[in-house]
Amino acid sequence: MSGSVPGPARDWTVGTAPGIFPFFGHGIDLVRRPLAFLESLPAHGDLVEIRLGPQRAWMACHPDLVHQVLRDPRTFDKGGPLYDRLRTLLGDGVGTCRHQDHRRQRRLLQPGFRKARVTDQVHLMGEEVESVCRAWRDGQAVDISATMLDLSTRVVSRVLFSDSLDAATAAEMRRCLATVVRGMFVRTVMPVDALFRVPTPANRRYQQASDRLRAIVDAAVAERRHGTADDHRDDLLGTLLAAARGEGGGTAITDQEVHGQMITLMFAGAESTALCLASALELLGRHPEEERRLHSEVDAVLAAGRPPGPDELERLVRTRCVLAETLRHRPPGWLFTRVTTRETELAGHRLPQGTTVMFSPYLLHHDPALFPDPDRFLPDRWLPGQAGAARPGAMIPFGAGSRKCIGETLALAEATVAVAFIARHWRLRHLPGYEERLRPAASLGPRGLVMVCEPRARRPVGTPPRADSGAPRTAVAPVVHNSRTAGGNDVHDA
Ligand code: HEM
Repeated sequence: MSGSVPGPARDWTVGTAPGIFPFFGHGIDLVRRPLAFLESLPAHGDLVEIRLGPQRAWMACHPDLVHQVLRDPRTFDKGGPLYDRLRTLLGDGVGTCRHQDHRRQRRLLQPGFRKARVTDQVHLMGEEVESVCRAWRDGQAVDISATMLDLSTRVVSRVLFSDSLDAATAAEMRRCLATVVRGMFVRTVMPVDALFRVPTPANRRYQQASDRLRAIVDAAVAERRHGTADDHRDDLLGTLLAAARGEGGGTAITDQEVHGQMITLMFAGAESTALCLASALELLGRHPEEERRLHSEVDAVLAAGRPPGPDELERLVRTRCVLAETLRHRPPGWLFTRVTTRETELAGHRLPQGTTVMFSPYLLHHDPALFPDPDRFLPDRWLPGQAGAARPGAMIPFGAGSRKCIGETLALAEATVAVAFIARHWRLRHLPGYEERLRPAASLGPRGLVMVCEPRARRPVGTPPRADSGAPRTAVAPVVHNSRTAGGNDVHDA
């Protein structure tokens, strides 16, 4: 979804964002109204200075500048407040390590994410989405955010650990992940350590969740290490443990690295995919015409009602357009940082070594110069032959360059399986009076989203869907999270 950005040489503009608060800088704007703040930045230049607490940072607002940053990871290395925070949690895994160690780590993990491997996992994705939907009842209000996080955590934990985690542990891991993800964001945009050392309930919850997450992963690794000698399960933990034993010709890796990579993949894989799914369902609920088109496709391709297998996936063209447009409109990864490893120039402006540079897929995806009508949800822009509607290189939901998301194929396959299967059987409606409220944290998407389930099969064949997209058809039953994960979504706790 990304590529080079051709374009004439130009005179760059460099500016400073207005409204700097003493001590907090633009941290307050970034916490209170982050999307509006981002969208306001291009008016101040192609490269705009902002303040994160007492620290300075530069936001690249033009796609050419973003790609210059992403194509030169030696100069613009992973670093800055976001990655400094992530390292405390994830260690130096593939997502957070410095450029010098990245190629080795990426090579180690890449086999687990090849297209052929993902194709083998399509069936397990189908099993998991089927089991999630089995708990739904006509008229029931379902906590979609929690359910999608449960689904993506289940899928990623099967990809990583096969069946090593029981349902209760997977649910606990989901709760810990949610707490840590939210706490991480506040710590990123206000990098003032003293604030987070105070033993407030939120700080304690963050620390407990982070400790528990580590303990769960440690236990799963230890269980496999001390299991039977002929246990060679074909999952990512198996790949990493083989590397730890020095098999495969590479340098043997330490237990600590195995641990760090597993946490990294859980962390990177579960939340983003869940938010992508929840956003897609949220947007479809508000766009009945798009929903109707999607239903026509899934009714034709999934006529038997089973989840799609690898062959059907190829034929779900409109489902993929819905997901591409969801990722443009609501990219889960909306804000990233890099840090310069030497003095360099960006937009003709001199940046000393150690400068924080930021980029935002959300900002690019909502620039009217790059995507006409950026605030409208228009899956048709991704139909074959239409992609020219977007400027090449402007669509970066999975990043670009050597640090591009390793899980892109996996995430898109999982999201396609889930959206297609859900749309084949269910219509999800918003509660009366629903209004979209986006609260971006470390990632972007609907949180605490509750929708009402309506089985599609009860509508007589040939009857058009009702025009009113808002009100549920039946009385709304109490919210259920999911039969396996009752206990709820604690995203807002931290
Ligand atoms: C819709 C779902 C997903 C989205 C939108 C997404 C987005 C991204 C983005 C934007 C980056 C680049 C970050 C940067 O440049 O700083 C990234 C990196 C990464 N993602 Fe994803 N991701 C998704 C799903 C997944 C999944 C399912 C996994 C694995 C199970 C995963 C693992 C990773 C890893 C390990 C990296 C770091 C790669 C590296 O530095 O070499 N992601 N992701």
